[in-house]
Amino acid sequence: MKIIPVACLEDNYAYLYPPESILGSCLIVDESTKSAAAVDPVEPEKVLAAAAEVGVRIDCVLTTHHHWDHAGGNEKMAQSVPGIKVYGGSLDNVKGCTDQVENGTELSLGKDIEILCLHTPCHTKGHISYYVTSKEEEDPAVFTGDTLFIAGCGRFFEGTAEQMYQSLCVTLGSLPKPTQVYCGHEYTVKNLKFILTVEPDNEKVKQKLEWAQKQREANQPTIPSTIGEEFETNTFMRVDLPEIQIMPSILQAKFGAKSPVEALREVRKTKDNWKG
Ligand SMILES: *[C@@H]1O[C@H](CO)[C@@H](O)[C@H](O)[C@H]1NC(C)=O
Ligand SMILES: [Zn+2]
Repeated sequence: MKIIPVACLEDNYAYLYPPESILGSCLIVDESTKSAAAVDPVEPEKVLAAAAEVGVRIDCVLTTHHHWDHAGGNEKMAQSVPGIKVYGGSLDNVKGCTDQVENGTELSLGKDIEILCLHTPCHTKGHISYYVTSKEEEDPAVFTGDTLFIAGCGRFFEGTAEQMYQSLCVTLGSLPKPTQVYCGHEYTVKNLKFILTVEPDNEKVKQKLEWAQKQREANQPTIPSTIGEEFETNTFMRVDLPEIQIMPSILQAKFGAKSPVEALREVRKTKDNWKG
């Protein structure tokens, strides 16, 4: 399995769009058959060019959710690649969706790759994350759209803190720790700066921020992370880790939170109002 990030919605005019607005579309490639799946190919021409460059054929589109900056390229993809399957969580509002998937739907790609669809609602109702494993011995990967960001999570546009807790801490949190995390936007530096306001003594966060800043200065992405790293550096995923005794007290002191779900809600609310 090979994963090729394709920077989309990137702007040459850095003064108009801050660099963190870049969306990482990805190609997932089955190397033995040269079949590929395109995750959120919002700028089809860039994704098709990347596929041509490495000599792979795009068999399907995996859509994480209906927002235009993820699903907005689907119809053009379908026109460019006749017969392509476009997967998504809803036929109604995911543009160009041909095949609806649910929690637990299994897809395969080429000869060696299996894709498990995970319903991870809250940012949007039908949000799907895609968990990808290969028959070769290598770490799995998960494409989390706007549910789990590196050191962050999506806004609660169509759901509750209870749902985000289930999506982040239960559904995604149950994946093996080495799972590579590919998310929908390059928000990492800003997210880590926010986390330091909540967990000022978290050394792992400080180290990761330094690293992420260097990556961005070199115009390199900060994906992938891993589920294990997110448990160490992403407050939104850390709200109920029993081994982190310090967290409930920090969160309780800061937010008066009485449960992990309440803590998640309060951290999200604080981030919504944070000017950075
Ligand atoms: C969806 O499936 C996954 C894995 O099979 C499971 O961990 C998760 O709890 C399920 N989600 C819901 C909401 O049932
Ligand atoms: Zn979104």
